[in-house]
Formats: sequence, C-alpha cells, structure tokens
Amino acid sequence: MRILFLGDVMGRCGREGVSRYLPDLRRDYQFDFVIVNGENASHGRGLTEKHYRDLLEAGADVVTLGDHAFDQRETLGVIAREETLLRPINMTNSAPGRGSMMYESQGGQRVLVINALGRVFMNPINDPFAAVDEALNGCPMGDVADAAIVDFHAEATSEMQGMGHFCDGRASLVVGTHTHIPTADHRVLAGGTAIMSDAGMCGDYDSVIGMQAEEPVNRFTTGIPKERFTPAEGNPSVCGVAIETNGAGLCTYVAPVRVGGSISEALPEYDC
Ligand SMILES: [Fe+2]
Ligand SMILES: [Fe+2]
Repeated sequence: MRILFLGDVMGRCGREGVSRYLPDLRRDYQFDFVIVNGENASHGRGLTEKHYRDLLEAGADVVTLGDHAFDQRETLGVIAREETLLRPINMTNSAPGRGSMMYESQGGQRVLVINALGRVFMNPINDPFAAVDEALNGCPMGDVADAAIVDFHAEATSEMQGMGHFCDGRASLVVGTHTHIPTADHRVLAGGTAIMSDAGMCGDYDSVIGMQAEEPVNRFTTGIPKERFTPAEGNPSVCGVAIETNGAGLCTYVAPVRVGGSISEALPEYDC
C-alpha cells in the first residue's frame, strides 16, 4: 500500500499549496491513503470546518491536529461528528472527538491512524507513549490493520525518535509534525517501521516557520511584541513523507516529499 503524509498546513498559503499539488501527487503516485495535518490551516491557528472540507476535497482521507487543535472554537463541534478529523489521543478525557481511528482505503485496506502530542518543551499533557501503546495494541497490524500511521506532534527530535523506536515493528510510519521544518532522517528501523523526525509544513518557507519574518525577528531582537504573527503568503511548498508497505503493514520504502515554493524538491521513486 502507498501512503502519503503531509505536514502542518499553514494558513491560506498552505491550503493553496495542498489544493494545487495534492490531487496530482495522489494520482501520479497512486497513493492509496493520504493523511494531512491541518492544525494551522486557518490563519495559522486551528482548523475551521470550511478549511477541513477543503483539505478533504484536495485529496486528504484523514486530517490530524496538534497543540492548536481547538484554537478555532467551532472545531469542538465539528470533531464530535466528523470521523475523519483526529485530535491528539493524549488530551484530557473530556476533550471531544477521538485520537485514533481505523479507516478503510478506497481499495478496502484497513489503516489505523493515531495522532499524539509530545511533552518535551511543550505544555503538560497525558503520557503519549502509554496512549499510543494502547491504540496500537488494540488494532495490531497483520491482524486487524493493514497499516498503522502515527502522527507524533512534538517539539523535540529526541522524543520523536523515542516514539519511533517504541513503535518499531508495530506501526508502518511514525512521523513528527509541529516544528514546520522537514528533517532528512527518514529511514526504516530494524523492525520495519519508517520514521521521520518532522514532515515539514505546507506553506511559504520564505518565513519563520510559516509566519511573516518581521514580527518573529522583532521579538527575537527586542523581546517586545509589536504586532500579531501573520502567516506568510508567498509561493507555497507542500512537504511530507511517502511510504510503501507490505502485506504485514511494515514499511518497504520511505521517501521525503517536497514540492513547489522555495524549498528543494524531493519526490518518491517507486518501482513501478
Ligand atoms: Fe504546526
Ligand atoms: Fe503544533
């Protein structure tokens, strides 16, 4: 099975990038399943229902979130009824929606998707390792799942690598989101799980992690906020990771995906 994961969609520019590039990517590389992290799709903060539907329209099967999950208050209602929208699994029990779910690809294959939030350099939250462990054990690959994808929304590469090894042999892909910068460490671990510390964002890289550079630079140099952060709106790049899995759900191929905008291009080279 071929699966594409795209990192944090940043504002209007990121949405335009996904609409521009995802339909062709999905068709040209024959992806069976596509996951997109939408936590910043609405002006950099959260995800409105309209923008969630835009991502589905562009070709996402599932949209995941992160620490900005409920920045848009309407998401509280949307996620309670929309099964293809996931928030981090290790939020408090009172959070609406769900953090993991089994989906069916167009070809009838069963894909478990889990969204979790890291704790290193982030706000306090429940243990992501225990939550991911429970979700994976509840839907083992090769038995009730044909693939399992973990979107680990984390600040620290160390915590992300730890999650990768923790899931090795039990997930097809563990991919980081949240830093908005793609890493070059995509690889398959000994047990057959692909990892990549961060998928990068979908947005304008002529920026500071997707925001127009002026205000972040002002705050770094003066320590005094002058205005709000505003998403950059130049030429969008779309960034993520593509995998291919075998019958047991394990990864046989992993490649970075970077298309458009100011960042260097990378595309998968599947065998056929
Ligand atoms: Fe983000
Ligand atoms: Fe985030």
